[in-house]
Amino acid sequence: MSDKLIVNIKELLHIENESVSYVAGERMKVMPKVENAWLWMKEGKIYDYGTMDELDGKDGLPEKRINAEGKLVMPAWCDSHTHLVYPQSREIEYIDKIKGLSYEEIAARGGGILNSAKKMQEASEDKLFEDATKRLEEIVRWGTGAVEIKSGYGLTTESELKMLRVIKRLKETSPLTIKATFLGAHSIPMEYRDDQSKYVDIVIDEMLPRVADEGLADFVDVFCDKGFFTVEDTDRILEAAAKYGMRPKIHANELDYSGGIQVGVKHNALSVDHLEFTGDDEIAALKDSGTMPTILPGAAFFLNMALAPARKMMEAGLPVALATDFNPGSSPSGNMQLIMAMGSIMYRMLPEEVINAVTINTAYAMGVEKELGTIAKGKKANVIITKEIPSMEYMTYAYGENKVETVMLNGEVV
Ligand code: NIG
Ligand code: FE
Repeated sequence: MSDKLIVNIKELLHIENESVSYVAGERMKVMPKVENAWLWMKEGKIYDYGTMDELDGKDGLPEKRINAEGKLVMPAWCDSHTHLVYPQSREIEYIDKIKGLSYEEIAARGGGILNSAKKMQEASEDKLFEDATKRLEEIVRWGTGAVEIKSGYGLTTESELKMLRVIKRLKETSPLTIKATFLGAHSIPMEYRDDQSKYVDIVIDEMLPRVADEGLADFVDVFCDKGFFTVEDTDRILEAAAKYGMRPKIHANELDYSGGIQVGVKHNALSVDHLEFTGDDEIAALKDSGTMPTILPGAAFFLNMALAPARKMMEAGLPVALATDFNPGSSPSGNMQLIMAMGSIMYRMLPEEVINAVTINTAYAMGVEKELGTIAKGKKANVIITKEIPSMEYMTYAYGENKVETVMLNGEVV
């Protein structure tokens, strides 16, 4: 692992002046930076940075230099919510969607998540691993350096374990930082539709102990929403998961005021995600909670849903995070730069707010804020170097273009 120095950086963004776990409210508008900067990476970590005029005279500077004239450097994105291990794309049911069927209608007749679950039964671990590896390679090109990946297309004990083992293999082989989330309660299999609590029992009594025993999950998730799991189901699952030390990250309030946000906060969730149905009560519950409100613009865009009230949340002093929800049913893209543009275009978030929302705030939402999410000495050197672009604001403006030229993970160009 050789040391490297990036020099002549037009703007080095998101330097950490004081240690923060996340940024909220008004502070999301702040983006500390150094102009005409250098960044020194040593043994895969950020070692030091400063302005070019004070570079001469530094001892032990690395020989390997990367010239970033006219370019911006900032932390690589953390994508804190994906389902990127999946057996097959679902463009056929997308046609039903174009013709007018809703997400819930497709799910109710056995499509949607259950469709993926059926394919998952037949999928081999090797093929799942190969396909997911390709997806990881693709999202890196768009600047993602850390990603959370959920199970949830298994819905049987063996199939859930299969998915989680694939994620474990990805962790071992990929240069990205990866976190795994157990989402056994993603949808109710058809055979349990008349006795939903029986399926919840299986999640708690059969799946959770095996997942914990093999050490396969960092977090636990439940799809707590209308037509899926109830607040009571969620309560039970999260209580059981807490015994294994799994902190929740909840799918909440995508389809209704489901109570998902409140039950997540009650169980000290690291994040609650989606949030299309967020009103004053939900905002009050989130205030000072330590639970990161995470908006998934790709799903709202793809399903033509109402938008989560991002501005209202920030005005109430809350933090906001943005993630892709990369999955075959509601957000078939892992492109964080597109999500960033949606943040500005659809949710009226300023570029500074967006960059905070996809770096330090998503780092927090996947439990890696101490090692990623800002440019700080000692953090992992996961950074992006842009093309020559006019300004930081251009990042969320030029929505179809890949502004990222070089991605460095653990101090190495990938
Ligand atoms: O986050 N909302 C629940 N689950 C996923 C969709 C999964 C799928 O349709 O395959 C989501 O949007
Ligand atoms: Fe999701």
